[in-house]
Amino acid sequence: EKGGYEHFMLKEIFEQPRSIMDSMRGRLIADQNHLMMGGIREYVNKFVAADRILVVACGTSWHAGLVAEYLFEEFARIPVEVEYASEFRYRNPVIRETDIVIAISQSGETADTLAAIELAKSKGATIFGVCNVVGSSIARASDAGAYTHAGPEIGVASTKAFTAQVTVLTLMAMMVAEKRGMIENSRLRQLMVEMENIPAKVEQALKLDAQIQHIADVFKDVPNFLYLGRGYNFPVALEGALKLKEISYIHAEGYPAAEMKHGPIALIDENMPVVVIATKDSSYEKIVSNIQEVKARKGRIIAIVTEGDDVIPEMAEFVIEVPAVDEALVPLISVIPLQLLSYHIAVMRGCNVDQPRNLAKSVTVE
Ligand code: M6R
Repeated sequence: EKGGYEHFMLKEIFEQPRSIMDSMRGRLIADQNHLMMGGIREYVNKFVAADRILVVACGTSWHAGLVAEYLFEEFARIPVEVEYASEFRYRNPVIRETDIVIAISQSGETADTLAAIELAKSKGATIFGVCNVVGSSIARASDAGAYTHAGPEIGVASTKAFTAQVTVLTLMAMMVAEKRGMIENSRLRQLMVEMENIPAKVEQALKLDAQIQHIADVFKDVPNFLYLGRGYNFPVALEGALKLKEISYIHAEGYPAAEMKHGPIALIDENMPVVVIATKDSSYEKIVSNIQEVKARKGRIIAIVTEGDDVIPEMAEFVIEVPAVDEALVPLISVIPLQLLSYHIAVMRGCNVDQPRNLAKSVTVE
């Protein structure tokens, strides 16, 4: 049932070219200019009229929500707030009838997320579920929704569910942007074509496995890791750190790279590995300066860069090259090496990667 892989997590990581394709199936056909999510169709006018989107989720799904914030704000120009479901439900939040709440959950059973949407529903907001498990509690409690169609995810560490969530949320943001007239047709077309190319690029990124295994071997015994990213790669930094801590039990923190100077830079010395996600995008120059700041303090830099980068390899101890992709779609690619890195480190440390200690696949208690 693990399809020849040693662990479900590895199988699920390698399934991503297919699972991402499944998330797009019937929803996006670039050469026919077809972009349609069945679940959104009836509610599209609500999205068009919405003056705010609230995202509620936990863990990795919350990271997908952060990516959605960047996407919806950039493409559709709708303000988005991303909330930890557990905080939202207890703080007497402002919820309006005109709000759209997007609940993101792989299992569809997360207690805090379910409670958050029940609360929002009671205040008259429209609930849109992005769930993987068909017929799950959150899917049933939602007014409308879109399944991620990633297939069953068994490993406790979420991998293919994350990329499927980001895929669905990207298509939603594109569709809403189009309906709101907020995106140029040429840009939309370009994104549609780029989305269709994502599975092939993920396939390419998966070829980095052997190289990443080598890097994992170098760092497997360290006590700490820092992950830095900017823009669309900031949520990816958080996700990389979460993956590492939950399965390898190494302490890791994800940060927006520019926040480093407000505190975490004090941690950097010659023993601190710093994973910097520094793909070629609009914040490239800025993140190169951040890498210099880390280097000046002798931090050990592992950089995720765009293929062909000839600047960062001069500065970093290790460089992982991923295929070039549109800036807004980069999380789907840059997260892949981070999933593999955490997997290999955890295996080398003898950890139970599919069922890490103290964790359950779905958190049905608060
Ligand atoms: O099923 P959900 O997506 O609602 O689960 C949310 C979190 O419990 C989950 O993402 C958790 O953080 C994962 N173990 C992360 O890999």
